[in-house]
Amino acid sequence: MSVKIGNIDLGAFPLLLAPMEDVSDPPFRYVCKQGGADLMYTEFISSEGLIRDAAKSRKKLDIFEYERPIGIQIFGSDIESMREATEIATLAGPDLMDINYGCPVKNVACRGAGASLLQDIDKMVKMTEAVVKATHLPVTVKTRLGWDDNTKNVEEVAERLQDIGIQALTIHGRTRAQLYKGEADWTLIREIKRNPRVKIPIFGNGDVDSPQKAAAWRMEYEVDGIMIGRAAIGYPWIFREVKHFFETGELMAGPTLEERIIACRTHLDKSIEWKGPKVGVFEMRRHYANYFKGLPDFKPYRMMLVKEENIATIHELLDEVAVKYEHVLPFSEMA
Ligand SMILES: Cc1cc2nc3c(=O)[nH]c(=O)nc-3n(C[C@H](O)[C@H](O)[C@H](O)COP(=O)(O)O)c2cc1C
Repeated sequence: MSVKIGNIDLGAFPLLLAPMEDVSDPPFRYVCKQGGADLMYTEFISSEGLIRDAAKSRKKLDIFEYERPIGIQIFGSDIESMREATEIATLAGPDLMDINYGCPVKNVACRGAGASLLQDIDKMVKMTEAVVKATHLPVTVKTRLGWDDNTKNVEEVAERLQDIGIQALTIHGRTRAQLYKGEADWTLIREIKRNPRVKIPIFGNGDVDSPQKAAAWRMEYEVDGIMIGRAAIGYPWIFREVKHFFETGELMAGPTLEERIIACRTHLDKSIEWKGPKVGVFEMRRHYANYFKGLPDFKPYRMMLVKEENIATIHELLDEVAVKYEHVLPFSEMA
């Protein structure tokens, strides 16, 4: 049976790319789509920014046909602003809208947005209802287990938000107080899955970084799909590797050096296409080390790559990497 969000058919067990600020932009999403992500999201976009017509926020609405299905994620503390931002984002033509009730960072959560709504479920319900009413698109929500250990109220969140019309819920198995520390705990996510009142798809998120873990947690926690964030950074192959393991029970060989270099070049090209040569080259800098993680003595190349401004020279450096590491074992066999 397929997992469905509105009319969007996501297949039997979808793998979602997590929204990640300053990471999940169109160039990164391009390589993740090639890697096999079934549903992707933009990074979170400030509702206030969209309403003010802030160029930075508007730019984040850019979506491309090859990305579908794609959701735009918004956040905010004011219900009216969220309603208005939903109307604006809907015009950008995504397949669905997503609300962030999970962001723990101070300047979001302490300004009444993101995870802070976990402290005021009544307001969260009203805000969600306003968003659902403001768009013809399906609305999904991403949140955490609760604010802290004493208020793990995500089950109430699941029931009440389902009642007012959200069509899927992704739960990161940590509380706000945990930030990104400790291990994610999906036990409560399974309880929600077992709650007969809850009918919408429930996606598990947090710490999935290998095909074996994805398969084990799928079985153990009974989720409808898995969202992957950090493990996809510099490693968009995670999606196809997880799928291969699900299908065959065997580990797929990791990407070759050549595949890594091709993905890195593609990411760079897309970044330049989308942001222009200057900003595109600059924003790519944070990704090089991730694509070549595990290569011995890579640091001098990384240093050169992150300083270089000339696009042709960057490609030449990547050519050199290809030659220098030609005889290094495939990454999967190096560990
Ligand atoms: C750099 C970074 C940026 C993030 N930005 C967002 C965001 O914009 N919206 C959101 O809902 N979650 C955001 N998150 C949280 C992730 O979506 C995800 O819930 C979290 O990383 C746990 O999943 P993972 O262990 O697979 O990475 C961010 C996480 C990271 C590491």
